[in-house]
Amino acid sequence: MSTVETVPKLRVLHPPAALLQARERRAQRLLLGFVISGLFFMLLPGTFLGVWNLISISGHKGAAVSPAWIQAHGHAQIFGWIGTFILGIGFYSIPKMTGSSFAVARGWTAWALWSSGVLLRWLAGVCPWHWRLHLSVSAALELAAFVIFFHSVRRHRPGGRKQPASTPSKEQDKRLPVWLLSVMTGTVGFLVGLLINLGAAVYVSLYGAQPVFPAALEWRLLALLAYAFIVPTVWGFSARWLPVFLGLREPSDLLLRGSIGFVVAGSAFALAGFAHVAPWLFAIGAVQSAVALRLFARPERPAKTTGIHVSFPWFVRTAYAWLVIAGALAICAAYLDRMNGWTGASRHALTVGFIATMVFAIGQRVLPAFAGMRVLYSPRLMLCSLALLTAGCALRVGSEVPAYEGYWPPAWHILPVSAICELAAVTVFAANLLLTFRQPPAHEMNRPSAA
Ligand code: HEM
Repeated sequence: MSTVETVPKLRVLHPPAALLQARERRAQRLLLGFVISGLFFMLLPGTFLGVWNLISISGHKGAAVSPAWIQAHGHAQIFGWIGTFILGIGFYSIPKMTGSSFAVARGWTAWALWSSGVLLRWLAGVCPWHWRLHLSVSAALELAAFVIFFHSVRRHRPGGRKQPASTPSKEQDKRLPVWLLSVMTGTVGFLVGLLINLGAAVYVSLYGAQPVFPAALEWRLLALLAYAFIVPTVWGFSARWLPVFLGLREPSDLLLRGSIGFVVAGSAFALAGFAHVAPWLFAIGAVQSAVALRLFARPERPAKTTGIHVSFPWFVRTAYAWLVIAGALAICAAYLDRMNGWTGASRHALTVGFIATMVFAIGQRVLPAFAGMRVLYSPRLMLCSLALLTAGCALRVGSEVPAYEGYWPPAWHILPVSAICELAAVTVFAANLLLTFRQPPAHEMNRPSAA
């Protein structure tokens, strides 16, 4: 029997503080495992390969680089970085927020399956050796890891006890808090994305000539992963944390539920191949989410920026501005795209402008505390990473359309600069977090030394 299977009975009887502390330390170590491997995937298989691809594309003024390398980069960023972070933060925080518990050993099994799946998929993309086997096995490993995650964090009472039918919490369960609804929507989107990924991987392994998903399928899968998995998940954590962190009024339940409805519908249209309908729904959902979260309304209280850089609220708002820009560019792409410039700019505004900026901002705000009540190593490095990322993203999004679409060829010279800015940004972000994790917890740093 696992440790946790025996723990719930003790929890009901108020477990000793030492037991709770030991459980908390195990959960923190698991979170660190996910975060450190996520940083690895972000830096090398993700960003380094992305920069390499972009410099090659710019050097040849748009000549195609290997689509297998582009997809390997996209997979490493979406699943290897963002997916790994979301799994780690989910394992750590969802049981706390919903009042459940899980066996940490299961978390480590999920980590091992997930990391090897993502790594194998990257290898299948960049190196032809046994790629057919690696492609299918990697997708199966990723799905298996997700199933363990889902089973571990799904809402249940400690000890698996059922609520009596008439208790108030059963009544509350009928209408989930909007943040939880959003996170659950993202979780279902993640599952659907992994199932499609497995089906596509098996199909390409059997019938494909190279480890590349067909372009139309890849477009659908990416739309689903972006707008049915990552965007609602980020909205969920935003609804939960931003009112406290930014001093905002509570989000509008109705508007945020509506935004979730828009992106889910948009994803369904994208999957069905309605490329002109989906972007409108994504854009409406994006604008409405910024209104629902009251990001641009006057805050009720000052933002909480102790231990981080004071520019934090500004970058969170910038991220949501990028989400709206991504939606507008996606609409343009549906009508104007000829050479992938509008599509690439929209995708980059979403992935780097919105997703990466949110991860940089919120990650440096919450991860030091989650990983053992540490303080962020350097608020200045936090500013540096976010400023470089924003500058790099603005250069990339601003020059990708004129360069790729041939409207203004000198824009090709700006793209490598954007890549270097973003590479510097992710390096500084990773360094700041790793240096934070090397520090002792805050209470030990303030303690006078024995000498
Ligand atoms: C940090 C610097 C980055 C650079 C230099 C970069 C570069 C590129 C390039 C050159 C492409 C090929 C398509 C195009 O030409 O637009 C691409 C595609 C893509 N990138 Fe990035 N990228 C970066 C960051 C990210 C991040 C942070 C994410 C996700 C969180 C991401 C996700 C994707 C995805 C999903 C694709 C599409 C892949 C496919 O078609 O399957 N990228 N990126």
